[in-house]
Amino acid sequence: MDAILALYTLGAVASAASISKLRSRLALSCAKHPSLPGHSRLARRLASLAPFYEYDEAEFFGSDGAPQEIAALRRSGFMRLSGIFRERYAATARLTAEIEEGISDLQFTTAYRVPFQYRRLVREHLNAGAFVRSSDGVTLTDLDGNRLYDLSGSYGVNLLGYDFYKQCMERGSAQVRELGPVLGAYHPVVAYSVKRLKEISGQDEVSFHMSGTEAVMQAVRLARYHTGRSRLVRFCGAYHGWWGDVQPGIGNPVPAPETLTLRDIDERSLRVLRKRRDIACVLVNPLQALHPNANAPGDSALVDSARKAHFDRAAYTEWLGRLREVCSERDIVLIFDEVFVGFRLALGGAQEYFGVKADMVTYGKTLGGGFPVGAVCGRRDLMKRFRDDQPTNICFARGTFNSHPYVMAAMREFLQALDTPQIIHLYADLDAVWNDRAERLNQRLADNGLPLRVANLSSIWTTYYTRASRYNWMLQYYLRAEGLALSWVGSGRLIFSLNYTDADFAAVADRFVAAAVAMQQDGWWWADASVTNEAIRRRILREMIAHRLRRVGAHSAQHRRATRPPA
Ligand SMILES: Cc1ncc(COP(=O)(O)O)c(C=O)c1O
Repeated sequence: MDAILALYTLGAVASAASISKLRSRLALSCAKHPSLPGHSRLARRLASLAPFYEYDEAEFFGSDGAPQEIAALRRSGFMRLSGIFRERYAATARLTAEIEEGISDLQFTTAYRVPFQYRRLVREHLNAGAFVRSSDGVTLTDLDGNRLYDLSGSYGVNLLGYDFYKQCMERGSAQVRELGPVLGAYHPVVAYSVKRLKEISGQDEVSFHMSGTEAVMQAVRLARYHTGRSRLVRFCGAYHGWWGDVQPGIGNPVPAPETLTLRDIDERSLRVLRKRRDIACVLVNPLQALHPNANAPGDSALVDSARKAHFDRAAYTEWLGRLREVCSERDIVLIFDEVFVGFRLALGGAQEYFGVKADMVTYGKTLGGGFPVGAVCGRRDLMKRFRDDQPTNICFARGTFNSHPYVMAAMREFLQALDTPQIIHLYADLDAVWNDRAERLNQRLADNGLPLRVANLSSIWTTYYTRASRYNWMLQYYLRAEGLALSWVGSGRLIFSLNYTDADFAAVADRFVAAAVAMQQDGWWWADASVTNEAIRRRILREMIAHRLRRVGAHSAQHRRATRPPA
């Protein structure tokens, strides 16, 4: 009798456990964003199925079913641009072509500028090259002597103008020259940076690394060490560097089983955080406030006009506040990854801007004063790498070049400059300046009947498109022809440095509008009622399936021939 009772009890416990497991799985599924970036495994699987194919010339200009005369208009605009590029960027493109075979990164960035179906013709005709010779004010000069307004922002490093960083690097280098490249021991310049970073971040301790990626790795490792839990939560679309655990989807050849990718700004994600017991940390990249749940907006993924962006400061502030509450309730480490937005939104970064304090903050990019860097600032109990009561239980983190004297000296220059009246003044009405500039540019785009707008998070801008089109990615080449330099991700990310004066900005705005007008006149934004984002996506899917089937068919025929017994 006792044995039967025990069995029943065991059964009841087991089924309660499996119901609770099921519930937890269900809650997790509900908290996943329905897009592909929200489903890392599926995205990776589908990516491996997508076949390569490319358009011939006729398809290139008419892939949206545009009439002959529009395709002809596009062709002549394309060839005009091709002539401009050939003439203007000859030396820069020549050296790029010579070296490309030997630089894998360059091959990658060159290939991923436009949707792959259009790649060949673009590469053949619109090659502006990958070299620049000098920087000055808000401009770059290439090998052909072309001066270009820089909207690349050097991936966000360039916050205060290239000349400012040249000074940080030069002055800093002069201070540590006597010590040179000595590593391990610190140069005294480190002391100031530690003190200032503690003040700026409002955190207790600092650790230095060589890149933003490494800073994120360290923050997550420490969170796992101190909580004894393994899972890290990131939000759909957020970039946190290229370490495997923060890049669970496309781009990483292996799965990241300890990573949960949840919906940004969504109650269902808070529910998961409240219920689960295995979550060590939540990583937030505040840049996502500009395009929640969407990837960094690169033009190679710009196959239609579905890209949207809008920054709602109040909504994001509220979201971070709620996240803070839940993390505190559950002892989950809240990490703000401010590698990009740190120092850009406010002197105290996103913490100050949104009024929410994190447990740890990562910085990088601009903090190095022009040199490569990463830093973690955090609560004392979280930053500690060993346990007093368990001497062999440590959380290891090193890095040969951490705290390199030249980097630390340039960092000190950068941090010291933040206290000067000019920079304090720059921060005073940052949002007003950049929101006003964006608003005025949008008004001009609207007045000219152009189907694109900009959205901005302070000085970080992105373009989005208001009419369905397959050709929005062409804008990057029209912008280049007008003397505007973008990074390889194209029109999705325009990063301004804060030394852009009203006059500089007016010149950029004129060129931006002129580029868009030329693109419109060349017929790229032609659309009739049949061109919708859904129709474009359906068409691409059909093309992919057809090419996939053709490839499978060719494979099987080859296999049959190879295995056919001799006659
Ligand atoms: C938010 C964020 N985190 C981490 C990184 C990685 O930094 P790094 O490229 O220095 O490794 C980046 C880089 O763009 C970033 O934007």
